[in-house]
Amino acid sequence: MSKTDDEAPQVKIRMRGGNVHYGDNHALIDVDADIHAHRVTALMGPSGCGKSTFLNSLNRMIEVIPQARFTGTLEMDGRDILDGDLDVVDIRRRFGVVAQKPNPFPVSIWDNLAYAPRIHGLVHNRRHESDIVESSLRRAGLWDEVKDRLREDAFGLSGGQQQRLCIARAIATDPDVVLMDEPCSAIDPIATQHVEDLIAELRHDFTVIIITHNLTQAHRIADHTAFFHLGRLVEFAATQEIFDNPRDDLTRDFVAGMYG
Ligand SMILES: Nc1ncnc2c1ncn2[C@@H]1O[C@H](COP(=O)(O)OP(=O)(O)OP(=O)(O)O)[C@@H](O)[C@H]1O
Ligand SMILES: [Mg+2]
Repeated sequence: MSKTDDEAPQVKIRMRGGNVHYGDNHALIDVDADIHAHRVTALMGPSGCGKSTFLNSLNRMIEVIPQARFTGTLEMDGRDILDGDLDVVDIRRRFGVVAQKPNPFPVSIWDNLAYAPRIHGLVHNRRHESDIVESSLRRAGLWDEVKDRLREDAFGLSGGQQQRLCIARAIATDPDVVLMDEPCSAIDPIATQHVEDLIAELRHDFTVIIITHNLTQAHRIADHTAFFHLGRLVEFAATQEIFDNPRDDLTRDFVAGMYG
């Protein structure tokens, strides 16, 4: 059991009255959500229900989409992160993002990991850069597989290794929260198993939020599960509750897909 397991859960991110409009399309409707620190939270729901919209609202990436507008309140560690006086780059740096398809940069494994820390001014010297590269690869469970080929092109890795490299890259800047939008949908079952094991480890150091279409995956890896439908957060509870004892009929019908 990790140190964090026996402590009372802390709220890492709190959204109240979260709404997103893309022009006239009201894609996220009155969402209240508390994301607990050092837990894995899964987001589920049918295509188009607002999962990615919710995820992209958390690190304020929604703001870069023309026509998109977020209203509501958003706090991290009890502090308003929509505050206009804050530097949005600093806020975004507290989130590591892993995309659906492995998307390494077309450079070496080393440079994939060192790039963001360098541009954020987090690298003190050469030795420190080497430490960042090694520790992020170790935390992503990839070090032993790549330690002898750090200067080689990242595209030489298998798809599953590339996805773990992308996870290593997401944590290289030492964020608080790791956001993953269907990180296993483009990799094979064995690579998926590796990534799931890794997520279980990541929760010790980070707060993890993962979108998945795979109900059994949510069941296996998530402490909490949120079910979205047509832009609303229908139900958000301990994963076991969502699967064994859902309160809402929509949730019940959706999770029935796992057994049916
Ligand atoms: N950039 C955008 N511009 C306009 N509308 C958008 C944009 N992105 C999403 N939407 C709309 O917002 C709604 C929610 O989309 P979102 O991508 O959040 O769903 P999702 O649950 O992630 O779906 P999926 O499982 O297919 O990825 C949909 O109606 C979608 O068409
Ligand atoms: Mg999506």
